[in-house]
Amino acid sequence: MYAKKFERGKAMSNISTVILAAGAGTRMKSSKAKVVHKVCGKPMVKWVYSQAEKINSDKIVTVIGHGREQVKEVLGEDKIYAVQEQQLGTGHAVMGALEKIPDGGIVIVLCGDAPLITAETLKAATDFHIKSRCAATVITADIDNPTGYGRILRNESGSVLGIVEEKDATDEQRKIKEINSGSYCFDTALLRAAISNLKNENAAGEYYLTDTLAILLENGYEVGAFKIPDITELMGINNMLQLSQAEKIMRERINKAHMLEGVTVISPENTYIGADVTIGTDTVILPGSIIGEGCVIGNGCIIGPNANLKECEIGDGSEINSSTIVKSRIGKNVNMGPYAYVRPNCVIADNVKVGDFVEVKNSNVGEGTKIAHLTYVGDSDVGSGVNFGCGTVTVNYDSKKKHRTTIKDGAFIGCNTNLKAPTQPQVQPLRRTSRAALSPLRETVRRSKKSGGKGNTANNPGKARLLNILSCGRRHNG
Ligand code: UD1
Ligand code: CA
Repeated sequence: MYAKKFERGKAMSNISTVILAAGAGTRMKSSKAKVVHKVCGKPMVKWVYSQAEKINSDKIVTVIGHGREQVKEVLGEDKIYAVQEQQLGTGHAVMGALEKIPDGGIVIVLCGDAPLITAETLKAATDFHIKSRCAATVITADIDNPTGYGRILRNESGSVLGIVEEKDATDEQRKIKEINSGSYCFDTALLRAAISNLKNENAAGEYYLTDTLAILLENGYEVGAFKIPDITELMGINNMLQLSQAEKIMRERINKAHMLEGVTVISPENTYIGADVTIGTDTVILPGSIIGEGCVIGNGCIIGPNANLKECEIGDGSEINSSTIVKSRIGKNVNMGPYAYVRPNCVIADNVKVGDFVEVKNSNVGEGTKIAHLTYVGDSDVGSGVNFGCGTVTVNYDSKKKHRTTIKDGAFIGCNTNLKAPTQPQVQPLRRTSRAALSPLRETVRRSKKSGGKGNTANNPGKARLLNILSCGRRHNG
């Protein structure tokens, strides 16, 4: 057995964190590992991991087992993992993780399926743990419906006596409203000693981490409870219903944080902002908008209604109305939508208009360019000050390859224009090129003559501009 005298030295500042994420999560009824299910776009285990990072953990060890590859994919291969081949209980899981953790500090144990715990609570609990000089501190809360959670046992004077799991509790114990969050601080060396004494003689036949508290008490150490008022932080996710409840709580938290930083959210209950999103002040988010994890939005923007943004950056003063933008960068004062679709890998410069039913893909669009309506711009490099007439299409695919289109500064493109890439750069060689390749351009010129140039580019506003249009694909043609 281990020494009873418990003195903390300087090394106390050394904090390690263990995240338990090996369980099967059978109650989720999903083929995915439980802890990779997302809350506001971020996997549960990643939420927990980022809180561990925020409290400056010196080392974070994640225990993996079921769906281990999925967890690694979410957190990254470069992280520290302890593999638990058989899920013999939370105590057994921590036992394995402790092999990777040095003595001489404290260890915080968190559940990968409790994504709502905050770094603020963990910091406060850690401070309490250090000051109270307890061997172990469990984070608890009083909740009206404690079903499914371990209950905190206390004596008449209020001292913690241990934790009883619901499966093992008496009817009387089940009435206790104070529950175990599944988050704890331990003195590392004492936890290591206590854990080696765990037994699995209980209703689940598992090695319960919770039993280490009673073992420490039996050996004369003090055990404390850090009770918190916000019960939502302790919510453990065991099924899809609880996942949706956690999503709602997290969403409210995220929206509130943005509002307190100067963002107007017109209808928070109809606004879906992911984790780690940055939004500038005086930006207004209109209802129905979905702003995915990691998006960066500038100041004074109007986003929505019904904007769907994924991994994108929006410059100051831009308006994004009922449009979808994926993995792209949008400049300042851009006016977009309604119903524009910006697909991955676009860079749209300042003061650009991307109007209704416009699709842009894998393209660069220069400053001040207007793509007002019903246009497809794909695999293109568009200069600044270009004007697209209604119904312009960059024909980028020849059934085998994608080709780029280049449109130079100031080009004026008439309506119903197909810009077939790659094409010949001059008007002259038209006759020598295959009919199929040139038909869109020929069509443009032909109709231009008929209509006296109205509504297209051939002779209005002039040849120079026409040549700019015809330069599409020039780079590839040499
Ligand atoms: C656990 C606690 C309970 C607490 C609740 C809070 C125990 C014995 N019980 O119960 O007191 O109220 O959390 O949510 O600790 N895990 C492993 N390996 C295992 C078993 C579990 O890594 O062998 C992981 C799971 O993936 C999960 C976490 O540990 O992330 C908690 O396990 P779970 O089975 O959900 O425990 P609960 O029954 O919820
Ligand atoms: Ca659980």
